[in-house]
This record gives sequence, structure tokens and C-alpha cells, in this order.
Amino acid sequence: MDRLWPTDDAPDVDDELESVYDYPDDLRRPWVRVNFVSSLDGAVTVGGRSKGLSSRSDMRVLGLIRDQADVVLVGVGTAIVEGYRGIRRTERRLERRARFGLSEVPPIALVTRHCSLPLDSPLLTDTVVPPIVITCEAAPIGRREALAEAGADVVVAGGDEVDLHRALEALDARGLRRVACEGGPTLFGNLIEQDLVDELCLTVSPLLTSGDASRISHGPLIEHPRRMRLLSALRADDSLLLLRYGRIDE
Ligand SMILES: NC(=O)c1ccc[n+]([C@@H]2O[C@H](COP(=O)([O-])OP(=O)(O)OC[C@H]3O[C@@H](n4cnc5c(N)ncnc54)[C@H](OP(=O)(O)O)[C@@H]3O)[C@@H](O)[C@H]2O)c1
Repeated sequence: MDRLWPTDDAPDVDDELESVYDYPDDLRRPWVRVNFVSSLDGAVTVGGRSKGLSSRSDMRVLGLIRDQADVVLVGVGTAIVEGYRGIRRTERRLERRARFGLSEVPPIALVTRHCSLPLDSPLLTDTVVPPIVITCEAAPIGRREALAEAGADVVVAGGDEVDLHRALEALDARGLRRVACEGGPTLFGNLIEQDLVDELCLTVSPLLTSGDASRISHGPLIEHPRRMRLLSALRADDSLLLLRYGRIDE
């Protein structure tokens, strides 16, 4: 066993945070990095939202993860509950992304079988770049057309269900390989089921919450749990843990 914290020579990573969260170089396929915050007892929300679990340090890393991504992938449930809008241009973001050789802001790609994003969503009305709506043929054609008319780039990936492999191929075709997935639990469960998770960034917030909140993924039990390995473990604000796990290719 190793003791990660406290250590006698714990390095201060503030100036190196960008390199801690770098994507691999020269990606030849989409790389799916998933980011969640959870309480100590495994809750993914407090009072129905993630805000009560988050903190300044968690938001700082979330911002960095967005700044390093080509696209932010999210389930429509999370986008609605968390009040998503298009990602903002800020001075810091523009500076960082120019340095990383990325577009000014990443688009948000929404996964939705039913095309249930309301047409007045700030994702459509308050955004610098159009959102990508990833759906399937079973979605009502009228909803698909209405979302396209409202400015979304609508991708049909799959027949009865959204085929997440095809969804990632569609992002790849748009040159969007650095994927930052912000959940929620349903989408994460589907990604695990399809063995599409390359990395999990998990913030463990020092809170006990009880209640009936979901955990960070749900869906059908998979036969062979995927083993991951620890890539980094940072401590912030005294008791917050920022963990990063990567897939082990077997
Ligand atoms: N703590 C955190 O870090 C964190 C992060 C994210 C979310 N959350 C919380 O999680 C809760 C939302 O959970 P959720 O499980 O409902 O979130 P979700 O996965 O974002 O949304 C579920 C909905 O998204 C669509 N969807 C997701 N995966 C799909 C797939 N593979 N194929 C087709 N459609 C798919 C479906 O919408 P349609 O019905 O339109 O088909 C589904 O009903 C919220 O309370 C949010 O605050 C917490």
C-alpha cells in the first residue's frame, strides 16, 4: 500500500494542473473522459442537483476539463436539470484554448433518444456555437426537424436506440476527439455498458448526505466489471479528493 496523503514532500500542483489533466497526444479515435462529483456516501446530487456537492476547486477542474476538450458530451436529463447553456467565451478560456490549439469554445453534444430538449433551452438560445443533438431514428421526426430549425446540428446515430459507438464516430467525423462527458448517471451507465469509458475524473466531496440520490452511474449490470487504474490523486480545500482513473487495456 502507498500513502497518497499526507506525504512529506507533497508537491504543490497548482502550476501544473493543466499537465495533470492533459489528454493523450495524437489521438486516433475519440477519447472519452467522464467527470463527476460525488459525496462520501456515493450520492450524485443534493436536493436533486450536483451544486451542493461541488466547490471552488471542483469547479476549477471542471473548467479546465472543458477547456481541454473538443466537445462536452452530456445526457439531456442533466442538461435540463442543471440548466445548461452554451459554453461561454472568457478571457482565460480563449487564452488557454488558443495555447492548446483548440477552437474558441467547445460545443455541447446532447444525447437524447426522444429529442426532449425544449426549443427555448439556453443551449439553443444562449450559445456561441450550435449544440450537437445526438439521437436515433425512433425520435419523433417533428422534434428532430424543430431542433434542427432552432439551430442544432442533429445527428441520427442508431435505429430504436442511440448507438453510442456511432455517436462517437459522428463526433470523430467532426474532428471532435477530446470528449469530456459530464454525465449524467444514465449516460455514464450506457457508456460503461458499451465499454466506451477511457477515463473517469471523480471528485469526492467530504460530505455525508444519506437520502435516495442516485450514484454516478446506473443501468444494466455488466457481466465483467471494467478494471481501472489510478492516474492521479489530488487533495484540495483540506479534505476534497480529485481522483483520475484510466482504463487498463486488457
Ligand atoms: N454529481 C455530478 O457530477 C452529476 C453529473 C451529472 C448529472 N448529475 C445529476 O444527475 C441527474 C440526472 O440523471 P440522469 O440519469 O437523468 O441524467 P442523464 O444521463 O444526463 O439524462 C438521462 C436522459 O438523457 C437521455 N439519454 C442518456 N443516455 C442516453 C442514451 N445512451 N441514449 C439515448 N438517450 C440517452 C435520455 O433522454 P430522452 O428521454 O430525451 O431520451 C435520458 O432520459 C440530475 O439530478 C443531475 O443533477 C450529477
